[in-house]
Amino acid sequence: MVKEENKPCRNPGVFTDDNLRLLFLKKVLPKPCFSGLNLIQQVFVLRQAPDELQDQRDIRGFREPQPDLSMTVHVHTLPPLPPYFTALDSVTLILLPLQGIIPYGKPMDQYKGTILVTLQADRVPPDMEAQLKQAGDGRDVLIRTDTSGLEQELDTVEILMGFVPWDLIARMPHLRWVQLWSAGADGLQYYPALKERPFQLTSASGIHAQQLAEHTFGLLLAWNRRFPAVFAAQTQHDWRYVRAEETAVLAGKTMLILGYGVIGKRIAQIALAFGMQVIALRRSVPEALQEREKKEPLRIESIHALGSLLPAADVVVNILPYTEDTRHIIDAAALAAMKRTSLYVNVGRGATTDEPALIEALSSKRIAGALLDVTETEPLPEDSPLWDLDTVILTSHYAGLHPEYSALVMEIALDNLGRYIRGEPLRNLVDKHTGY
Ligand SMILES: NC(=O)c1ccc[n+]([C@@H]2O[C@H](COP(=O)([O-])OP(=O)(O)OC[C@H]3O[C@@H](n4cnc5c(N)ncnc54)[C@H](OP(=O)(O)O)[C@@H]3O)[C@@H](O)[C@H]2O)c1
Repeated sequence: MVKEENKPCRNPGVFTDDNLRLLFLKKVLPKPCFSGLNLIQQVFVLRQAPDELQDQRDIRGFREPQPDLSMTVHVHTLPPLPPYFTALDSVTLILLPLQGIIPYGKPMDQYKGTILVTLQADRVPPDMEAQLKQAGDGRDVLIRTDTSGLEQELDTVEILMGFVPWDLIARMPHLRWVQLWSAGADGLQYYPALKERPFQLTSASGIHAQQLAEHTFGLLLAWNRRFPAVFAAQTQHDWRYVRAEETAVLAGKTMLILGYGVIGKRIAQIALAFGMQVIALRRSVPEALQEREKKEPLRIESIHALGSLLPAADVVVNILPYTEDTRHIIDAAALAAMKRTSLYVNVGRGATTDEPALIEALSSKRIAGALLDVTETEPLPEDSPLWDLDTVILTSHYAGLHPEYSALVMEIALDNLGRYIRGEPLRNLVDKHTGY
């Protein structure tokens, strides 16, 4: 006997788009909404447009609230219904014409824990505590500028914000949501078990594009116009003579951008304005996007084309997140594929580059130079050869800084706090499995 509920479920928790149909076994989910979420052992997802749902990771949110129940998720196309569906004698079918999938909505038990903020003292806006208290629907707010002594607080943390102590997250039993103060969610790579923990993770992606792009071009212009040598000469009152062949221009050169997200797009726009040819690489380029992007004045390709495109680039700009897939994506082979005259710019994350291979490529003049805002270990160890190579320009991982950084990220955090409390989809949700 199949009972069908066509009206949208009002209970926040799991939502789908128009093309998605959810089917729950009634035996394990007695109510046709989500208050019984912890009873679900199997979820059947029936789609009319299956190609949009690439794999089970898209719906992993169903599993997140109860990772220890080892919930099974089945994905099917509609029509037809899978044969065992009609064979089941006690089934509730819930059709939810709602938007997007929220991995985890408002906690079912209405638990109100603390909002814990961990930030360096100079990053805490003066009115932060009051703002979070006002928006936090009665939750206590704790701001810690030092993570020592946090042990006593872990039990009650429901929401964690800031540059977070990844090592402590697994010990927060009531944690539901983490709002990062950075664009990258690198901690997932260092604490992979957290991918299975039942909390939502959101980033500060979106607020870095302009300053990151300006910093990137600052590095490139410094290199092309020989600023480091001339500035060093200035300190010696030396009117440094620069030969024409020591200088370079960006116009007419080809830039290959690894990562075409918020920041990569801004870098691409500015590169085009400089008169450069631009090729940008993404993780995946869906068919529909490819069509649209064909109209853009740059070439957008999948990362799979990396090896074949590296030889074409005069400048390679790496603005990738650090994930399982991007670790050491620039290795000895990639560096060997680059032109001898090419520049490598890394403003994303140090661990996406095999640093010994980069040092070797620079030392052997396999590539012309490296402009780095990020390194594999930060701060860069005192004995790293990168300090002394004259073909390297280093900045100390501050390309993302902006004078209004705190205000910009607070805007995301407060917007997300409101959404969280209303059980709405959060902005900048990180897919813990892809890592960004
Ligand atoms: N130096 C700094 O101070 C600083 C500051 C801010 C950010 N960052 C770094 O910059 C990164 C990007 O930030 P964002 O805000 O631009 O992020 P974003 O909007 O999420 O964009 C990420 C981009 O990387 C692509 N990508 C992910 N995995 C990939 C893979 N395996 N191969 C190829 N492309 C891949 C994505 O491809 P799809 O388009 O196909 O999804 C997307 O285009 C951050 O994660 C952070 O590590 C550094």
